[in-house]
Amino acid sequence: MENMELPPRPKLFDFHGVSMINYFTDNWDNVQNFQARPDDILIATYPKAGTTWVSYILDLLYFGQTAPEHQRPIFEKVPFLELLIPLYPPGVEVLNNLTTSPRLIKTHLPVQLLPKSFWEQNCRIVYVARNAKDNAVSYFHFDRMNQAEPEPGDWNNFLQRFMDGKMVFGSWYDHVTGWWEKKQTHSKILYLFYEDMVEDTGRELDRLCSFLGLSPSAEEKERVRGGVQFDIMKKNSMANYSTNPVMDFKISPFMRKGKVGDWKNHFTVAQSEQFDEDYKKKMENTQLRFHTTI
Ligand code: A3P
Repeated sequence: MENMELPPRPKLFDFHGVSMINYFTDNWDNVQNFQARPDDILIATYPKAGTTWVSYILDLLYFGQTAPEHQRPIFEKVPFLELLIPLYPPGVEVLNNLTTSPRLIKTHLPVQLLPKSFWEQNCRIVYVARNAKDNAVSYFHFDRMNQAEPEPGDWNNFLQRFMDGKMVFGSWYDHVTGWWEKKQTHSKILYLFYEDMVEDTGRELDRLCSFLGLSPSAEEKERVRGGVQFDIMKKNSMANYSTNPVMDFKISPFMRKGKVGDWKNHFTVAQSEQFDEDYKKKMENTQLRFHTTI
């Protein structure tokens, strides 16, 4: 796709205590007033935790039989609730016009900013979390290649900003723990880990199906599992964002590595030690635990 002319890269600002950019706040009243339906399925994540992976899994589970002529990119099939960006219809509008059932909905909102309708309608929510170090690395490369994101700066500065919570959608620490705490009292949240999905995609697929009340045949499950492997998805133009004009794959592809532990290729020993020390303090009050290697 030809390169789209976007305005200069957006700047971060504080929004209800969360760092944000205007592409996710410009439609705020409509986002907050969004009317969820009881059968909506919400995919909630901090950016770069595996949103697209889970979106595509759910799309295949529900709509896997769709004929090729109806195939559309995943970012159109699973609309991004809070998105309002030039050249695209607003996420809320796309969702209101969606005729498929159930609607699969993507959000990166921290739990306290989710429109209340999702709670009122008791929708199923799949949350995916990824360990902080790999999440930070993935986010860094994403911000390098995506004109709709703030300028990432160099890795060292980016990492400091990540630790300070000055990222689009705010602090990783607040996001993953906020949703984790909510899950303790709300049975309609399935909390998945990216690392578990890499370790055993079939097992996590089973957990997803049981949460969603789906019982695909063994053959159907195997078809989904095969279709969502990293190398297969990377080549799939409906799943790999190659049709998205704001991204420059010459800088870094959207489907970049898909690994657990790639942080070791980016963090210096000093950065890692400093990060771990800070992490302990920020995460001392939660039972939430991550794997940084598998
Ligand atoms: P990397 O940058 O580490 O490669 P999101 O969809 O939330 O933006 O997350 C993107 C991250 O998920 C990228 O991580 C991407 O490669 C990874 N990802 C996407 N599909 C995947 C798959 N099928 N298996 C493993 N990782 C996947």
